[in-house]
Amino acid sequence: MREQGKEVKAIRVHEFGGPEVMQLEGMPDLSPGAGQVVVSVRAAGVNPTDTYTRAGMSRKPPLPYTPGIDAAGIVESVGEGVTGVRIGARVYVSGTISGAYAEQALCEESQVHPLPEKVSFAQGAAINVPYATAYRALFQIAKAAAREIVLVHGATGGVGIAAIQLALSAGMRVIGTGGTDRGRNLVLEQGAHHVLDHHAPGYLSQIQALTEGHGVDVVLEMLANVNLDNDLRVLAMGGRVVIIGSRGRIEIDPRDAMTRDASILGMLLFNTTQAEASSIHAALVAGLENGTLRPVIGKEMPLAEAPRSHREIMEPGAYGKIVLIP
Ligand SMILES: NC(=O)c1ccc[n+]([C@@H]2O[C@H](COP(=O)([O-])OP(=O)(O)OC[C@H]3O[C@@H](n4cnc5c(N)ncnc54)[C@H](OP(=O)(O)O)[C@@H]3O)[C@@H](O)[C@H]2O)c1
Repeated sequence: MREQGKEVKAIRVHEFGGPEVMQLEGMPDLSPGAGQVVVSVRAAGVNPTDTYTRAGMSRKPPLPYTPGIDAAGIVESVGEGVTGVRIGARVYVSGTISGAYAEQALCEESQVHPLPEKVSFAQGAAINVPYATAYRALFQIAKAAAREIVLVHGATGGVGIAAIQLALSAGMRVIGTGGTDRGRNLVLEQGAHHVLDHHAPGYLSQIQALTEGHGVDVVLEMLANVNLDNDLRVLAMGGRVVIIGSRGRIEIDPRDAMTRDASILGMLLFNTTQAEASSIHAALVAGLENGTLRPVIGKEMPLAEAPRSHREIMEPGAYGKIVLIP
């Protein structure tokens, strides 16, 4: 346990901009207020949304700030009135008050969840945004059910791997896509029934044969500005596309949705209600305990290399998660 009053290291951003605006600095030791918990961070997860915030492209926190939403570690101290979390417990967090790219994070008690012994801290840092997004998209938004066929369009990254594991554990048939041989092998290792190369010309034409002419019931879409028009053409009757990621505009033919009674559904994790979030994390903790959820870590980097982690997460060739180790 860290000595009280000592300086702790954190990544700080003083102006929005490129990855280089993130710098490692000393910060005062944190102490919890009523209902709050201080976590000694052992690993922090890097998500694409962290890069949008740092660039000033989405929700802008007051400057300076410490980036990062996801982390795992050990509870260092708890504030007055905290009853569900004890000092010394292994935990993962679903958001923080102070930022996750740091040796220490201040959280609300509701943001702290138990991390089973068999799940490493690096894996713990890979749970919240990817798994909660995949869970919410699949179950709460698409209302996917056992026996349905799910296309995880972009299956090699954080959300995609989570989606494969969640869909398989619920009895769905899964087709995943990846942009590299290494990524596609990972998709198959995770148990997906089929894998396709999303850079190969006409790759979605294989869907008809792979689904015996049925089409896919649900598409979890990581890059809608590229794929939405084609997604609508591979849907089964009553199919649903959930837009998880999109980085631009696209033209679609609405008749493709009309003729299939299809739905295009958007979702943003930040819109999750507290009641939905507590249901999601109860399911995720159960899945981690029973071993159906096993976060895949592609790269671990020291905290000081946060700028490199932001460059690499935006490059093609995803392979599970990138995590920072304080
Ligand atoms: N709506 C929300 O609340 C929410 C929450 C979390 C994430 N997201 C967004 O969802 C996206 C995925 O997040 P992530 O954490 O999984 O990111 P990630 O780990 O960086 O993975 C990106 C994924 O997109 C795939 N991709 C690249 N080109 C593609 C294409 N042409 N067609 C289909 N997929 C393609 C990548 O595959 P290869 O690298 O193998 O080509 C990889 O599987 C990001 O845009 C992120 O901002 C949204």
